[in-house]
Amino acid sequence: MEMRAVFESRDAADRSWRVFPAGSNGEYGLPQELSVVLRRGDGCRVWDVSGREFLDFTMGWGSVLLGHGHSGVTAAVIGQAPLGSNFAHVNEHSLRLAERLVEISPACEQVRFCASGTEATMHCLRLARAFRRRAGILKFEGAYHGSHDVGTTSLFGREFRRFPEPEPLGGSMPVGEQQVMRVAPFNDAETAADLIAAHAEDLAAVICEPLHRCLPPEPGFLQAVREACTRHGVLLIFDEVVTGFRLALGGAQERYGVVPDLVAYGKAIGGGYPLGVYGGRTSIMALVEEQRIADSDYVWTASTVGGNPVSSAAALAVLDAVSEPDFYPDLHAMGEFLREGMRRVLADAGRAACVIGDGPLAQVVFRPGPVRNSREIWQGDPGAGRRMMLGLFERGVFLNPMGTKLYLSAAHDREACEDFLERFADALAGIS
Ligand SMILES: Cc1ncc(COP(=O)(O)O)c(C=O)c1O
Repeated sequence: MEMRAVFESRDAADRSWRVFPAGSNGEYGLPQELSVVLRRGDGCRVWDVSGREFLDFTMGWGSVLLGHGHSGVTAAVIGQAPLGSNFAHVNEHSLRLAERLVEISPACEQVRFCASGTEATMHCLRLARAFRRRAGILKFEGAYHGSHDVGTTSLFGREFRRFPEPEPLGGSMPVGEQQVMRVAPFNDAETAADLIAAHAEDLAAVICEPLHRCLPPEPGFLQAVREACTRHGVLLIFDEVVTGFRLALGGAQERYGVVPDLVAYGKAIGGGYPLGVYGGRTSIMALVEEQRIADSDYVWTASTVGGNPVSSAAALAVLDAVSEPDFYPDLHAMGEFLREGMRRVLADAGRAACVIGDGPLAQVVFRPGPVRNSREIWQGDPGAGRRMMLGLFERGVFLNPMGTKLYLSAAHDREACEDFLERFADALAGIS
């Protein structure tokens, strides 16, 4: 790389530390000396301002499922952009999108749009509380539902509190909110069902990432949670922000065969453009109808850019692409190829580690498997996970070193995965 380009790239990275806290827009946790500022992406690759190329294994935190610069999504955006970016009103693209989503998503008779996954889960929680007229929420330890207080409760296990006591993350959560939160271990049907039964009187909802971060549900677990919720009149919310349109066209609902009462989508559906979706059956969604504003169970849900015609056009192009017959078989085959390859590399390196994931997702856990829940993952060696991710970053793999989850896209082929596996082996050799 030319010296000038190196200086420009360092300068841009240092500037980012002056205007963004920790030099980032959240979550990256990269040390300053590794910081980069990106300029462009194509397929499964991104380039920084100096022209340095990275193999992308985070893909906009999973929002760019089809690959960077996908021709269908790009054409849809270019087609709409000159015709108006936002009307804050139902438009022909958002209407068609809503019609398709209601067809695709088993839980959704009606939907509304917002701009992110955080908003989508927040609206589901508020709807559940108003519908049930209860404040309590149960979540699974280690789950992330967006950057609100419920979403980040017990996200990282530092204290390993006794279930169902929540562990707030940082200082933003009011005591009152903590008092109504309950936390259960993922993949432990008995404990979850017992807690739902014990707290049924004040629980509005159970919120769940059906693929818990990167950990698949054991057979029967989601079904048992569904059953307990139904028995005790507690709503079940699926946070499909990661799984939606990624594990199957019908998301985790289709993949794992369980239908929740409310569902939140984000990430992949927008093709990288801002879009969140929440939906459920009409009797619940009716609470947001504006003519009910004077009712005590009314839920306010306005979103200025939610359902804007550019994001909606992009989403329709995403749905066209993922509706191709080979889309999901190919995506799953590539995910399995990657996970198997990583297992082989770890075994060759003599590492006591396991690889978890489903569909186009993978994560290394530095402890022998199988692992069932977040606490077991944390009891491994998360430090080794971070060192490995930073080692990969240094070797030109773009990823989120904090997230530990690797995202494939439809643009990743065998060659890209094999290239990754070589760098993975090299990075492993470099860490203790
Ligand atoms: C499962 C899950 N829910 C919600 C969110 C929040 O989505 P957003 O970052 O679009 O607000 C995320 C983001 O990573 C997520 O992984």
